[in-house]
Amino acid sequence: MKKKIKIALIGYGKMGQEINTLCNESEIFEVVSISFKNINDKLDIEGIKKADIAIDFTSKDIVLKNIEQIAKLGKNLVIGTTGWASDIEKVKKIVKKYKIGLIYGANFSVGANIFFKMIASASKLFAKFPEYDVYGFEIHHGGKLDSPSGTALKIAGKILENFPAKKSIQTEKLNRQIDPTELHLASIRGGRNPGFHEVIFDSNADGITLSHQAYNRVGFAKGALFAAEFIKSKKGIYAFENIL
Ligand SMILES: NC(=O)c1ccc[n+]([C@@H]2O[C@H](COP(=O)([O-])OP(=O)(O)OC[C@H]3O[C@@H](n4cnc5c(N)ncnc54)[C@H](OP(=O)(O)O)[C@@H]3O)[C@@H](O)[C@H]2O)c1
Repeated sequence: MKKKIKIALIGYGKMGQEINTLCNESEIFEVVSISFKNINDKLDIEGIKKADIAIDFTSKDIVLKNIEQIAKLGKNLVIGTTGWASDIEKVKKIVKKYKIGLIYGANFSVGANIFFKMIASASKLFAKFPEYDVYGFEIHHGGKLDSPSGTALKIAGKILENFPAKKSIQTEKLNRQIDPTELHLASIRGGRNPGFHEVIFDSNADGITLSHQAYNRVGFAKGALFAAEFIKSKKGIYAFENIL
């Protein structure tokens, strides 16, 4: 029988449990370590040493510390945790220093990554017609720790790159008129939605609405395992959207 890829799960919340379920049914992956299973747990260093790859779905508050500690062990990493985009340069340095492989993504579902490409393409087309404006919003379950979502920031990035009239992102409520150079992206929190993102292009004449709805967390978990297989024997840092 082929040797299974040994996974260390970092974080055992909604995503960690989803990946564990997939691994239990898998002939390719097995979970050999789980960190932060209970409140006050620490990183399971001895368990991580036995793993081929660590997959982190924790929170923006601890992900950087996790990356550094796991990189020190020479283990490759899949980072699904969001909310740390401003620390990308620090992460690049860690990857280089410890000569590991790391792949990260704000959204590991195939549909969402196709959605990013659709947004980029629509932005480029609408940018030619100054009468069109663009804006959007996202909805996530009440337990989500960061806001706006990493996926929303990714979408905003695609719009700013391809719709030059928009120069900055505005994620707050406004008690004034929005400046035409600002891209308004609102966040709604509540209920159980695993992730909904919508972008609207409109003018006086007509409008187009593009939206992506995750129905559950299976797509994210499958994407994380796809990323794990990809990064297993590589070094350097990769963005998930570039490897699909
Ligand atoms: N890339 C993607 O496709 C994708 C998809 C979904 C979610 N995400 C992101 O993945 C992350 C996790 O999502 P989730 O839905 O699984 O969250 P979750 O259910 O809240 O689980 C987070 C896990 O991390 C642990 N944790 C969080 N903060 C901690 C701290 N300060 N110290 C120790 N342990 C801590 C939690 O432990 P406790 O339970 O003890 O608090 C829990 O085990 C979020 O950043 C989310 O945005 C990414």
